[in-house]
Amino acid sequence: MPSFTPGRRHRTVDQQTIPGGKGVNVARALKLLGQPVIATGIIGGATGTRIIEALNDESILNAFFRIRDESRTNMALLDPTTGVHTEVNERGPSVSEHEFALFQERLLYLARGASMCVFAGSLPRGLEPETYAELIRSVGKLGLTTVVDTDGEPLKLAVRAEPDVVSPNELEAEELAGHEFVGVDDRARAVIEIARQGPSEVIMTVPDGCYGYVREGAGHALYRLTIPPLEARSPIGSGDAFLAGYVASRYEGKEPVECLRFGVACGAESTQHVGAGIIDTNAVERLLDSVVAEPVTLPVEVE
Ligand SMILES: Nc1ncnc2c1ncn2[C@@H]1O[C@H](COP(=O)(O)OP(=O)(O)OP(=O)(O)O)[C@@H](O)[C@H]1O
Ligand SMILES: [Mg+2]
Repeated sequence: MPSFTPGRRHRTVDQQTIPGGKGVNVARALKLLGQPVIATGIIGGATGTRIIEALNDESILNAFFRIRDESRTNMALLDPTTGVHTEVNERGPSVSEHEFALFQERLLYLARGASMCVFAGSLPRGLEPETYAELIRSVGKLGLTTVVDTDGEPLKLAVRAEPDVVSPNELEAEELAGHEFVGVDDRARAVIEIARQGPSEVIMTVPDGCYGYVREGAGHALYRLTIPPLEARSPIGSGDAFLAGYVASRYEGKEPVECLRFGVACGAESTQHVGAGIIDTNAVERLLDSVVAEPVTLPVEVE
């Protein structure tokens, strides 16, 4: 939508409708990376039916649980004249306790055939903020690697459930740490502080890369990765592409720092496409060399 101005009537010059939500975006990116993945969650109504049809068209395997309420439709308005994007997110459906219990049963069934489980996105209305924490505990008990990307209270409670990996962006990490970050040392210290709250590993994405406090050998190592900024066509979903890249590498058993590197390249490459979770694997390979990884010496007072 060129020259988008609040208060005016607009016409789109181009438009597309694709299934979204962080979990679906991560699944799309994993599928494009050639990894076996099943998208699950809660959907409903005619919009829910369209979501499933569109996922099937994209060959993204899915096993959603159907609820009574209608799934929401969110709108992202991209103004090509300024590059500014504006989001309008509908209030989502409400989920009853009974519906959630049935979904949980499905998730645990699927988990029996999986080795990693990514919990991503906000919680629908009607669910308690402890929901992710509970799911992490039950899926973790089955021996899966649990990865979390959400925000607010559900994230605070989720980290205490000791997931394997939590991957907040900077803002979400500041909320977890309870203060704003200034400088490299401060950010490095913050990921360690967050790890003390429960998760085994903490990855904080920042606009120019990430900080990763990851298991290495018998202990932990802290890395800072940077990438020269690309001119973004659409920045939406770069965090989801990052996470998919990280998870794909980890699933393949790569070294921690290489998993982070691949994640950063995927996040960066995804900014070149309109549509969340879309990445071009060849372009990702070409970006890998521009990602600089350096160990961060841990501040003495925290180790
Ligand atoms: N313009 C850009 N150029 C290069 N890399 C980028 C750019 N924008 C984002 N990235 C990369 O993408 C990754 C994720 O970025 P960010 O922290 O902004 O995610 P996010 O806020 O969770 O995004 P979203 O929630 O929309 O998916 C980071 O590793 C970052 O380096
Ligand atoms: Mg994010």
